[in-house]
Amino acid sequence: MSKVLVTGGTGYIGSHTVVELQASGYEVIIADDLSNSKKEVLQGIEKISGILPTFYEIDICNKPAVEALFDQHQIDAIVHFAASKAVGESVEKPLLYYKNNLISLVNLLEIAHGRNASLVFSSSCTVYGEPDKLPVTERSPIKPAISPYGNTKQIGEEIIRDVVEATQIQAISLRYFNPIGAHDSVAIGEYPQGVPNNLVPYLMQVAAGEREQLSVFGDDYSTPDGTCIRDYIHVVDLAKAHVIAVDRLLQSKNDKPYEVFNLGTGKGYSVLELIKTFEQVTGVKLNYAIVDRRAGDIEKVYADTTFANDVLGWKAGKELDEMLLSSWKWQQSLG
Ligand code: NAD
Ligand code: UD1
Repeated sequence: MSKVLVTGGTGYIGSHTVVELQASGYEVIIADDLSNSKKEVLQGIEKISGILPTFYEIDICNKPAVEALFDQHQIDAIVHFAASKAVGESVEKPLLYYKNNLISLVNLLEIAHGRNASLVFSSSCTVYGEPDKLPVTERSPIKPAISPYGNTKQIGEEIIRDVVEATQIQAISLRYFNPIGAHDSVAIGEYPQGVPNNLVPYLMQVAAGEREQLSVFGDDYSTPDGTCIRDYIHVVDLAKAHVIAVDRLLQSKNDKPYEVFNLGTGKGYSVLELIKTFEQVTGVKLNYAIVDRRAGDIEKVYADTTFANDVLGWKAGKELDEMLLSSWKWQQSLG
């Protein structure tokens, strides 16, 4: 049984990926410092898969601690989710982001080198900035980063590319579009800390009566209804792509030692379309108001998923209505 180290495995996307890796027969070891997640997530994972993953509460920036983990386990692949991800906070505390997101990556690459472990890296569509042409393919230009957070993803990809070139390490970077939803069992999902920054968690809290009103950031963009367009993808669809990426690395199905894939549905929806769809599928009327634009927002971005579809044989299955019902079911389970 191949062993996979999932860093950030008690987090939102990480926990869903752990479940899918376990279902595919991988032995999963989680390393997470619980800076943005809770240990109880492990029980949620066990509830779904029947397997309590081995867990290390460690900071990936602490290299001796990560080395000790590798001394105890023969790790075949690393899926590296652990990172700080709040865009606004990254603008206020850039060094925290450069330290946490880049030192952790460098540590893992140094340790993987010589131990024959492959790497899957969590990247983001943020690397495309405001695209000149839509949909974006993996060959679309990388734009200057809008935030230190976004920059850590660009630099992270560059570090991996250079290290793969110089070593035997094989790696895949996955550029996520906008993950939403939760596992159908509602045993795991996203736990936003404090006031949510992202649209869907905020919307769910308004719909649940926990917050007064959703602010729609701008309706004067050059889109059909004036609001921004994104490519929302269900977190379980996203998680499944990681299993295929790990399979691909371990079975050496890749022609190139470093590959990059977009993970989206290929369909773009505006903020108002998303709100309307939510209201239609749940019957819940949402209190929202149009306010000023949010600084740094991208007008429209959605993926060309042809490369992932053709090469990985992966396709996102869930439509927007199912995704929003999934998020709503999760929100309601929180009580
Ligand atoms: P998350 O915050 O839920 O999960 C990240 C996990 O990493 C958390 O459990 C946190 O405690 C842990 N962590 C952070 N720093 C660590 C460290 N130094 N050592 C050990 N553990 C650490 O976030 P998520 O939404 O699941 O995102 C996972 C990854 O995907 C991140 O790299 C993020 O940047 C990337 N990503 C997320 C989105 C999104 O919209 N959620 C989009 C694109 C990319
Ligand atoms: C976020 C991240 C980005 C990451 C991307 C993919 C921020 C600022 N950016 O951006 O780095 O790559 O996810 O996961 O967090 N909106 C509202 N009201 C709200 C919240 C959002 O109208 O209360 C709008 C936004 O203006 C945007 C859309 O909803 O048009 C989606 O916003 P959000 O969920 O924050 O995602 P991204 O902007 O794509």
